[in-house]
Amino acid sequence: MVVPYKHEPFTDFSVETNKQKLLDALKEVEEGYGKEYPLIIGGERIMTEDKIKVVNPANKDEVLGYVSKANKELADKAIAVANETFEKNGVNPIRFSEPTFYSAQQQSYGAAKRNLPHILLKKQESHGKKQTPILEGIDFLEYYGRQMLRIKDGVEVESRPIENNRFDYIPLGVGLVISPWNFLFAIMTGTTVAAMVTGNTVLLKPASATPIIAYKLMEVLEEAGMPAGVVNYIPGPGSEVGDHLVDHPKTRFVSFTGSRDVGTRIFERAAVVHEGQKWLKRTIIEMGGKDTIVVDKEADLELAAQSIVQSAFGFSGQKCSACSRAVIHEDVYDQVKDRVVELTNELTVGNTSDPSNIYMGPVIDQAAYDKIMSYIQIGKEEGELLAGGTGDDTTGWFVQPTVFGNVDPKARIMQEEIFGPVVALSKGKDFDELIDIANNTEYGLTGAVITNNREHLEQAREDFMVGNLYFNRGCTAAIVGYQPFGGFNMSGTDSKAGGPDYLIQHMQGKTTSEQF
Ligand code: SER
Repeated sequence: MVVPYKHEPFTDFSVETNKQKLLDALKEVEEGYGKEYPLIIGGERIMTEDKIKVVNPANKDEVLGYVSKANKELADKAIAVANETFEKNGVNPIRFSEPTFYSAQQQSYGAAKRNLPHILLKKQESHGKKQTPILEGIDFLEYYGRQMLRIKDGVEVESRPIENNRFDYIPLGVGLVISPWNFLFAIMTGTTVAAMVTGNTVLLKPASATPIIAYKLMEVLEEAGMPAGVVNYIPGPGSEVGDHLVDHPKTRFVSFTGSRDVGTRIFERAAVVHEGQKWLKRTIIEMGGKDTIVVDKEADLELAAQSIVQSAFGFSGQKCSACSRAVIHEDVYDQVKDRVVELTNELTVGNTSDPSNIYMGPVIDQAAYDKIMSYIQIGKEEGELLAGGTGDDTTGWFVQPTVFGNVDPKARIMQEEIFGPVVALSKGKDFDELIDIANNTEYGLTGAVITNNREHLEQAREDFMVGNLYFNRGCTAAIVGYQPFGGFNMSGTDSKAGGPDYLIQHMQGKTTSEQF
């Protein structure tokens, strides 16, 4: 019997014993700092000369590890191994799924469940995150395992008396998974496991800022019984390895999560049919957002301010779902603005190795820091600086939570994704205008509406064009299997991670009809 899916409960780090456990785990992980990590191709560990140096963004001098870097030749080797593994095993989707199925059925609880939180906490903490990304990774394993159990024997179709019709989903082939550095464990695990559990073989190219955590996932997958060659670990520069693999004729699909620029580049490149290629490549692309919280005049204004601040500054604003704009009814604008500023000024920024005392960690690297600081400069010209506005990159990359007020809806800081702790506030004269402003971006990922007016909620349900719309809460923190996550327009290919139709995007439908 399959135990019904439920998300993992969150851990409260204000509880002393939980906090202590976390600190102990962090110490243990610290012992592994500075280690060298190989690539993993077909189960073989390959150490390269050329390495990615991975540093702690809260303390740039602290080297977390040196990770081998794939080049074109190693990428070719990996795709040959993945292709061979795929062809050798036929197209039965069940074949690579066992570790996940075990977990779903709880016959023997997946190794991932036992080990991951403990091994991986330090790395995620150093990126300014609390424990939720680990739990979310486990949720993806549990949820996709169960989803696959639902479709593994086909989906019911009609048959007339003279025939037997079947409709089955079969795998696609070799998938290239390019995962992001934010939600570093959760999204990387979710995208990798979705591709694997559906019977494909995978080339996992994690973001260059966070490749160690992907190595840890490889260890756990191996421990859970994944056959060699099913997931191959090939960190390396996007410009060399990423482009080469996107273009490769044996690549059957690409699953990418990251920036709009890279996503659109992949989409274009994957559309080109190369010599020897027998298919049109599938792309599953999750890009950015310019996510808005709308505050109506009949609303709980304290909830509005809390939602804006938490959604804007959690994980230092480094979420595609983060609130980077709030559009507030002019009658309540001043009240909401004042409370947002007050709450923002209470936030603490620093090294999050003491998890209960610091709210916001660093941003990921120098390039992110420079980009965010340049948008803060732009914001100073476009709006009124109400809080924050400064940064410090001497030891780590820290940016103060920043609020701009009275910003024109068409201003750059209201339109362009900053991916950092910066939020812009705008005004609207009525609910129609608030929704028009909320919709005036090229993205369509998340949004929230804070109102006590039922008609306005229903209006927003129809007119607010985002993939994840939330009412009377913040616009981040979708839960796997509860709030399938993914956006419209320039936010991606409308795929919904942690949703009921996610897996079939990694598969193709095959109809068989036998006549008697
Ligand atoms: N799923 C995350 C959220 O909802 C973003 O990737 O915040």
